[in-house]
Amino acid sequence: MPLVAPALLARMTDPDASAIRRMFEEGAALKKRHGADAVFDFSLGNPDLAPPEGVVRAIEDAARSRESGRHGYMPNAGYPFARAAMAEKVSREQGVTVLPEGVVMSAGAAGALNCVLKALLSEGDEVLVPAPFFPEYAHYARNHGGVLRPVPSRADFSLDSDALAAALSPRTAAVLLNSPNNPTGKVYAERDVAALAEALARHGERTGRFPCLICDEPYRDIVYGGRRVAPVFPLYRNAAVVSSFAKNLSLPGERLGYIALNPAMDDFAAVSAACVFATRILGFVNAPAFFQRVVSASWECKADYSPYEKRRNLLAGVLDSAGIAYALPEGAFYLFCAVPERKHTAGADRDDAAFCEHLKKHLVLCAPGKSFGGAGWFRMAYCVSERTIAGSAPALKAARESW
Ligand SMILES: Cc1ncc(COP(=O)(O)O)c(C=O)c1O
Repeated sequence: MPLVAPALLARMTDPDASAIRRMFEEGAALKKRHGADAVFDFSLGNPDLAPPEGVVRAIEDAARSRESGRHGYMPNAGYPFARAAMAEKVSREQGVTVLPEGVVMSAGAAGALNCVLKALLSEGDEVLVPAPFFPEYAHYARNHGGVLRPVPSRADFSLDSDALAAALSPRTAAVLLNSPNNPTGKVYAERDVAALAEALARHGERTGRFPCLICDEPYRDIVYGGRRVAPVFPLYRNAAVVSSFAKNLSLPGERLGYIALNPAMDDFAAVSAACVFATRILGFVNAPAFFQRVVSASWECKADYSPYEKRRNLLAGVLDSAGIAYALPEGAFYLFCAVPERKHTAGADRDDAAFCEHLKKHLVLCAPGKSFGGAGWFRMAYCVSERTIAGSAPALKAARESW
């Protein structure tokens, strides 16, 4: 009898479910063999911009204090001052007064999502998600007895509220939106989010179950061309925002995020208490103390995202020259590319896993779209240096021509 639970083993070894991490690890091995400069690694969304100076100062200030108890346990929901700071942040973003009691500090957006799903899901419940989507969502839903149900987006990756409305069922506990989107970089239009909110309300009137609209927003601030992420609290009462400082402040390893509930939510106090309880019983106990202090002091500091926009444009030019089609991102730092039609290699057209293997032979590392529910596409994370982007041009061209 194997020690590892067979169901978990199956999830661990599912090639689609681990493609990104595997590519990242293979990238590290390739860099060792060929030298870091020879490998063009677009596999992982690991921000390479330094945290803003205001964050660095807050780290220094927090490290200097000798106040007793500052490394101790705290309430599971987080420090009261951190909850109040996040309530102020989300109030500004949503245009609705968010209550500190509706904020739960978390171990990143991933921890926040797991706590919210733990709080909401019963065995067999469904979580609808527009596809393509962040692949970890499937694991997070499964962790808590739920099932992720991908619903295709429109051809341009915009939100298809009609398709989502048609997929609602009495089993739907939640709809999970991610805008700007990983992997497409799409920012969902306010009118589409509003149409979805109306559909959720109509569904609730009809069935008695108003699903929770969970907005996963770690990329909210990273938008191009004056776009903005639509606030959902004014549109639908059973809404929650989860976010983190992984991407906007370049702090992914510090694992600091939060959940914020719409104060108008049904069962507000019970849902908040359930998220706090989930934080405890999932073993997080509380979000990291040190970085609660840091972000509470620095969340308002300005970060410059223009390097990402510059890199987006640079990469778009590289892909144009290579003859690879893509969807131009409106935010975040991912670019979703169409697998080119095959000319030289035998096999199925637009096989994304095979194309990523082919790219790897040219020392270009990308993530196959199938893992994101976007077969026939592949993702390039462009939070890498301009040198890497420009340097990848000959390799991408050669890969395209020999495909
Ligand atoms: C869409 C999306 N949600 C959540 C996360 C997890 O973020 P965190 O590192 O804050 O847990 C990521 C990380 O890449 C992401 O892309």
